[in-house]
Formats: sequence, structure tokens, C-alpha cells
Amino acid sequence: MKVVKNVLHMQKIALKHLKNKNEIGLVPTMGALHKGHVSLISKSVKNNDISIVSIFVNPIQFGPNEDYIKYPKPVQKDLKICKENHVDYVFMPSVNDMFSHNYKTFVKVRDLQDILCGPIRPGHFVGVVTVILKLFNISQANRAYFGMKDFQQLKIVEKMVKDLNFSTEIVPCPIVREKDGLALSSRNSYLSADEKKNSLNIFKILNLAKQDFKKCKLNLVKSKAINRFKKIPNSKLDYAEIVKFDDLSKVDEKTKKAVFTVAMWIGKTRLIDNIIMSKKK
Ligand code: PAF
Repeated sequence: MKVVKNVLHMQKIALKHLKNKNEIGLVPTMGALHKGHVSLISKSVKNNDISIVSIFVNPIQFGPNEDYIKYPKPVQKDLKICKENHVDYVFMPSVNDMFSHNYKTFVKVRDLQDILCGPIRPGHFVGVVTVILKLFNISQANRAYFGMKDFQQLKIVEKMVKDLNFSTEIVPCPIVREKDGLALSSRNSYLSADEKKNSLNIFKILNLAKQDFKKCKLNLVKSKAINRFKKIPNSKLDYAEIVKFDDLSKVDEKTKKAVFTVAMWIGKTRLIDNIIMSKKK
């Protein structure tokens, strides 16, 4: 396994693999790797000749009052995980190399970025899409692996790839949960024991909503869930919404496949989660 810190060096390596007709898988991450990331890495390693894991805490996707500075950076542990899981290259660029002081280009996916997390985290998705586009060009990835926990991010990236005619295949990967149901996230490390206990309610409530979706009107599914979310101690709801699975658009009573997506604060930690709901029994 090679650790590459320079952008042009990484791109040169990738272009050489491309020339040799090696298929490249990219797993874009911000580090603090957990079993969710490992599931993406395993898929990439299985289905490509070469796997690149990028570890880059991307400053342009964090708002001024968000956790950019305190975002966990356990570099040695991350490298060990990558090595144990047969990654070929870990790409760890510096902020200056990715975004020089004269950086000017940003990419926006309209509408999809203006709902759910969008208005609450202004600039976030522009930052995400811009860095992903750069990572695709640097890594020359044939396939890129994204977790479904960040469902809005996944849909926005899929749209960007379609609209800008990228040939990179986006591979969505199911949410990985702890045994107790908590969706794995690098931010779970911020939770105290009590907060962790409280956060377990999120998945329980999503599951109840999934059952309700089969038999209740949409408004009722949503209001029952919101009432339950509001009862979680020491919490604040950012949003709880039901959207269409395919494109995050508004649902109606005829919608067969939807996603219940939630963002909420447990103490000082913002967690997101979602569940896919279908009318079929
Ligand atoms: O999901 C993440 O960890 C980040 O948003 C990503 C895709 C690595 C872009 O910085």
C-alpha cells in the first residue's frame, strides 16, 4: 500500500493505471474510518484492479461554526485499516494542494442542494460536489463508492455525474449499523454514553415510520415520527422529511418507494439517518 500526498503525483499514478487498462475504484472519505467505510473499501477491492481511498477533511464543505477543527483525525489507525483491507493507494492531499489560495471553481447541483440539509448547512453541498469532482479527475475512477447514510449527498453526486457526463459509476452502499441500530458515523465518537443511549431512538423511530408507511396517510406517518423524535431527551430536530427514493422530490399518497430522512442534534452532535420505505408488505 502506498500513501500519496501530492495531487499531481496521484493523478500521474492513476493515469498510468488507466493506460494499463486497470479499473480503478475510489472510496472518498474524510478519515476516522469505521466499519461503514470498510464495507465500501471491501466492495471496491473486490470489483476493481486498483483501489484508492482518499482521506481529506474537506474545509469547503464545513460552515464557519461547524466541526472542521475538531473533526477526528486518527491517521495511523486509518492507515492500518486501509492496509488490512488491501487498499492499493491512500491519497491524503494537503488543503493547499487541493485548494490553492487562488482557487475559483465551484460546482452546484440546483434544487437537490436546496432541500433537507441544504438550507441548514449553506454551502455544504457545493463544497462536497466540488471536492468529489476533483477527486474523480485526480483518481480517474471507474467506480466510486458512497454510503447511503448520506442519502442526499449520494443523490446529488449521482445527478452531477449524469449532468456532467462523467463515466464514473456511482456505487451506493447500504448503511452499516451497530448491533443496537445506531448508524455508523465518524461523528458518533463525540457522543457521551447517555447521548449514545438517546440516539438509539432514532433508528427505532425510523422503523416505526416504515411500518406506518404501509398503512397510514403520509401526514400521519410524518407527524407521528416527529412527535416521537421530539421526545428524545436532550435533542433538537433539524428536519424529518419523507421524500421520493429516486430523486428526493415530494411524495404523494401514490408513492411506492420513499425515504424517511432525519437530521437531529443529540446534545452538541448532529446526526443524520434514513430508512427506505415501500408500500409492499
Ligand atoms: O461523506 C463524506 O465523508 C464526504 O462528504 C466526502 C464524500 C468524502 C467528500 O468530502
